[in-house]
Amino acid sequence: MSAVTQQSPSPALPSGNGQGSPSDFDRCEAPENLVAPPCTYVIFGGTGDLAHRKLLPALAKLDREGHLPDKLLIVTFARREKSDEEYREDIRKSLKEFGEERVCSDPAFVEKFLGRIYYQQGEYDRLKDYKRLDKRLGELEAEHGMKDRRLFYTATPPEVFEDIIEGLRSSGLTTSEDEDTWRRMVVEKPFGTDLDSAQALNRIIHSVFEEDQIFRIDHYLGKETVQNILVFRFANALFEPLWNYKYVDHVQITVSETVGVEDRAGYFDEAGEIRDMLQSHVLQVLTLVAMESPVALDADAIRDEKVKVLRALRAPAPEDLVLGQYAGGEMDGKSVPGYLEEKDVPPESRTETYAAARMYVDNLRWAGVPFYLRAGKRMPKRLTEVSIQFKALPEVLYSRLACNTAPPNTLVLRIQPDEGMDLILSAKVPGPSVSVAPVRLQFLYKNEFGGAGYDAYERLLLDAMRGDASLFARADEVETAWELIDPLLEYQRTGDRPEPYPAGSEGPPGADLLLASGGRTWRKLT
Ligand code: BG6
Repeated sequence: MSAVTQQSPSPALPSGNGQGSPSDFDRCEAPENLVAPPCTYVIFGGTGDLAHRKLLPALAKLDREGHLPDKLLIVTFARREKSDEEYREDIRKSLKEFGEERVCSDPAFVEKFLGRIYYQQGEYDRLKDYKRLDKRLGELEAEHGMKDRRLFYTATPPEVFEDIIEGLRSSGLTTSEDEDTWRRMVVEKPFGTDLDSAQALNRIIHSVFEEDQIFRIDHYLGKETVQNILVFRFANALFEPLWNYKYVDHVQITVSETVGVEDRAGYFDEAGEIRDMLQSHVLQVLTLVAMESPVALDADAIRDEKVKVLRALRAPAPEDLVLGQYAGGEMDGKSVPGYLEEKDVPPESRTETYAAARMYVDNLRWAGVPFYLRAGKRMPKRLTEVSIQFKALPEVLYSRLACNTAPPNTLVLRIQPDEGMDLILSAKVPGPSVSVAPVRLQFLYKNEFGGAGYDAYERLLLDAMRGDASLFARADEVETAWELIDPLLEYQRTGDRPEPYPAGSEGPPGADLLLASGGRTWRKLT
């Protein structure tokens, strides 16, 4: 199966043997390179992990690929004392370690990129430091002949988000006398820890910025394969007629990670897997799978439809949730400690490292179709996928054959790794007798396009500079998601301890019971 991108009015059909190799199809040239407008990227938390591992390497890649204009400055702000030169040296090392090799192994390019970067020391709760930042930005912009177009990014722990917004407001950093300029604010995850805190954060941000200036990050939305869910659904005639309760038995969304809590116990033990993964990434994927077609491809039209799905989701009951916590086990032949033995985890912690939930979208399209969600750490494989399991055919003809090993049709959208799609069908096994077996039609990004394109942060940083909010969460979207998740947090607080599961296993046994009532099982991870 092959992906086609073309603009010719009459579709060019595959020539040759119909095997669907990339050369069989016309593809339009990439549209003109998207270049960000001249602006200043101001990153709060410039010495932190996110800035070093993700943001600066992503900006370097965008620069290398020609998406950054000459007039683009990166000014990072953090508590530690450092000169511009010292900070640039730190970034040079990070690019080597975390940057794309092709991009960061060219010394001349790295030098040019580092030349865009400046460092400003300051405390997040000290007004005079924001005033110093404002002055410095003004000087740099004047020196480079730039307007004061500024994009602020909170790459800090969430505890200081409020200080930053207040600092920006009271220092005047967010206002300008020039009409032809702008301010934008990119807010990192986590956006609140429950509905109340998310609403409070929205109120604070809205006291300074309009909604169209705010870009709430959920990096899953920047993943090529997540965006492709909409293209698969709405650019193919094949799937849409089947995409509803009449033909779909159930949907599974799986985010399985091999990593444990690593050195993030301080954050994770407070957050837990429900907040860390379900509320954000997993619900975002669910909305794209379940939404109606938007009236246009703009940010608001898409987000309107996503919010409708969140509003249609039925409040889950306690029996719709299963929680787990990894115990010691074996991964890749090495023994690994359980969650409670990890560094900085309180020995009695009840924090879940695995969460599975059953949800229903109560609308005409999805009435009665269960959506099973699961996310877990220290699972056997790193894998994110959506599987749409279609209903079984009636028990006649081939379904009745003893020699039929094919399950009902399944469409698997693989988000990572091996980005692509599988369609599981039934086929006749060659030979004189009639037996039926499952076969797989497969589309792999790497075969068709050479890979899955840009990294999520690369895409999202560029979109924020260009002012395109389609891949960012809107205020009502995050709040509606929290509204739904709050009861799960309550069950987590008041219910039993999470069930232990050995590291390297597919999660706690209780998770199987969520599906068992309908005779269903989770897709195997291995
Ligand atoms: C982050 C979570 O948002 O997403 C992490 O805080 C998780 O706990 C990560 O590991 C997963 O992202 P990805 O892109 O590796 O699937």
